[in-house]
Amino acid sequence: MAGSQRTPADTAREAVVEAALGKLGLDAKTRLLAGQDMWTLPALPEIGLKSLVMSDGPIGVRGVRWSADDPSVALPSPTALAATWDPALARRAGLLLAQEARRKGVHVLLAPTVNLHRSPLGGRHFECYSEDPYLTGVIGSGYVTGVQSGGVGTTVKHFVANDAETDRLTVNNLVPARALRELYLAPFEAIVENARPWGVMTAYNSVNGTTMTEHHHLVQEVLRGEWGFDGVNVSDWTAARDTAGAVNGGLDVAMPGPQTVYGEALAQAVRDGRVAEAAVDAAVRRVLLLAARVGILQSAEPVVAEPPEAVDGIELAREIARRSFVLVRNERDVLPLKGGTVALIGAAARDARVLGGGSATVFPARIVSPLDGLAAALPEGALSYAVGADPATELAAADQGFRLTALCRDADGTLIGTRSAPGGLIQWMGSDLPDGVTHDTLHTVELTGTFIPRTTGPHTFGIKGMGAFTLTIDGTTYYDDVQRPGKDDPFEAFFGAPVPRAQVELTAGEPVDVSLTHVVQLPDDIPMKVVTFTLAHCEPQREPDELIAEAVEAARNADTAVVMVATTDRVESEGFDRTDLRLPGRQDELVRAVAAANPNTVVVVNSGSPVELPWREDVAAVLLGWFPGQEGGAALADVLTGAHEPGGRLPTTWGSLTDAPVTQVTPTDGELPYTEGVFIGYRAWERAGRTPAYPFGHGLGYTDWTYESLEVFPGADGPAARVRLRNTGERPGREVVQVYLAPAEPDPGRPSRWLAGFASAEAGPGESAEVTVALPRRAFEIWDEASNAWSFVKGSYEIAAGRSIADRRLTAPINV
Ligand code: BGC
Repeated sequence: MAGSQRTPADTAREAVVEAALGKLGLDAKTRLLAGQDMWTLPALPEIGLKSLVMSDGPIGVRGVRWSADDPSVALPSPTALAATWDPALARRAGLLLAQEARRKGVHVLLAPTVNLHRSPLGGRHFECYSEDPYLTGVIGSGYVTGVQSGGVGTTVKHFVANDAETDRLTVNNLVPARALRELYLAPFEAIVENARPWGVMTAYNSVNGTTMTEHHHLVQEVLRGEWGFDGVNVSDWTAARDTAGAVNGGLDVAMPGPQTVYGEALAQAVRDGRVAEAAVDAAVRRVLLLAARVGILQSAEPVVAEPPEAVDGIELAREIARRSFVLVRNERDVLPLKGGTVALIGAAARDARVLGGGSATVFPARIVSPLDGLAAALPEGALSYAVGADPATELAAADQGFRLTALCRDADGTLIGTRSAPGGLIQWMGSDLPDGVTHDTLHTVELTGTFIPRTTGPHTFGIKGMGAFTLTIDGTTYYDDVQRPGKDDPFEAFFGAPVPRAQVELTAGEPVDVSLTHVVQLPDDIPMKVVTFTLAHCEPQREPDELIAEAVEAARNADTAVVMVATTDRVESEGFDRTDLRLPGRQDELVRAVAAANPNTVVVVNSGSPVELPWREDVAAVLLGWFPGQEGGAALADVLTGAHEPGGRLPTTWGSLTDAPVTQVTPTDGELPYTEGVFIGYRAWERAGRTPAYPFGHGLGYTDWTYESLEVFPGADGPAARVRLRNTGERPGREVVQVYLAPAEPDPGRPSRWLAGFASAEAGPGESAEVTVALPRRAFEIWDEASNAWSFVKGSYEIAAGRSIADRRLTAPINV
């Protein structure tokens, strides 16, 4: 068990922790368990403990500022990382993130997100890895190992069954024991076993009647007791609700602060006899151990003393992106491009959507759009661009053409501080205010500056945020009133939709003055002080028919048409689920029109999670590009030109919503029953006998593979499969060899087959390669609800090796 792999250094750290704990009184101890602000725990100088800093996660390290003036490398979305099927690459991603965290003084990364793709409608689908618990566990283990080998902690989240966003703070997910063990807990268990995470984050939701921040059974008995987890259990932000319930349920840290159910309230509960001081001590011990591990507790040796060798973040972001792109269709080998001219089409090709929304947002220092990437890679004159149908029909952060500064004034109107405000976004958390400004003195914030339009016509301006606002453009005041929240979610001010407040006729290239003033009124009793609002903007909408006609014309005049289709911030983010899987706006129509004009039409899909592609049989190629991170455009050029092959395989089934087997994400009377049991993702598609658009595991490279032999043999830790394959194409390539296990006699209680393991092979043209895939004991087990234990199911199975769950090339029987 993971917890028992102790080293002498662990023992030494524990001694320092014990000595430090002994010096703390009750008030200091309970203070340490409560956030002192949005991202940190308090320092306790009396024991030589520095303040512990946490930050989101998972594709970068945002740091304690929610702002573009504190940039971070932005890697591709977690779905993309999982599409690489490469734990070693996930590990390198983790190492880079540790480097970013160290640079920003962050000790714990609030990641990875290892909830499952139960339904394609889940709002944070892009932020999770896969519909398969095994693949999720393998990628998550690589990631956690990487981050922690850089000396930075992780909090594997959200424990557990936070698989959708509707009513996420209160929903009671009713998860049958088998599904809980075999699916939702499985990645957490694997990561605890393989990567020994220093932290876990408990979710907002309840599971089977108990809120996760108080779930004694799942936290104390399963996570700590059965699995030997020895790290810290941090609440999701504002998820801790009851002092005694949380501490007795095994929650160590209540975030964020300063108002939490811990701190003084916890000290009082101990004094009243509602909580045993031993429970507080146990939590403090774990927090101090984390502090020791990351090197902020005096006299304790950090796990990693020296920062590891430097990782080039730009190169790694590009490598992960191209390795994640999944080529799902490539008729007549239209890709890689054979030279000639390219018409690049789509708003997302110019204004790339490189990451998903919500707490997973980071601010990269640069973004290489597909237009930038292809312009740099193709010969002069080979590339043309047309915007096509514009999915940007919605208000978005004011970052194109705006130069804005935030001016802070006190109640008398005196200027007390300023800060740049790239993107028109103000998100100041806790004590992170401009120099010279405090919450006591701050009265108004004015976002002010100029805007240079890139198009002529009616520009729409909007406001995201709550409270009193005044919006003035070019000397005219368009809004002077109070905006109220639409929903009772503490994060509505962050994740809610901007409201349109002005439409102004502007001329391309002619600057205008812009001002948005907000009166800051933060109630005293809120758990965290956050000053947040956004100036939003939307360009004039040109006549869509005209735009599509322009794109068709560009496509007709080029050898190849590359159309980028995309989702928007209002489709994939945190705090809400999707209601359909369609591409927004008129993008489907655009693709159809372009494909009709040019037989060499390649569609690149820029979304973090599945979307419907109703025209997929009518185009030559479809490349799934995820949210590709800051270097996405460069990686796309690498793949389209053939400098590299697209390396991804689907970590999740892509199909239409009508066919998708699990679509219920909305609770009834507060409850969401997981009635499908263990049948999610491909397990459910197979049981329903439906054929998805693209099956789990599918993805083409630029070469061909023949599977030559499959041999099952007894390995050191149980059976293993040896697969020999040959690269029969004309280019070197990398193949993800997938091994599926199926009961020889169908068993209606079990999926018809499941992923048991995988390995990747690399070979040059004509060369053969061999991989060995161990079949873990767990692959043969089910959770037996009667005995409440794992049960090894003896009997005959079929082992299949292949390219996806649907494309199985070789099979062999096995008896266990
Ligand atoms: C999210 C977490 C995140 C936290 C801090 C919550 O709303 O669910 O994933 O780490 O906020 O930003």
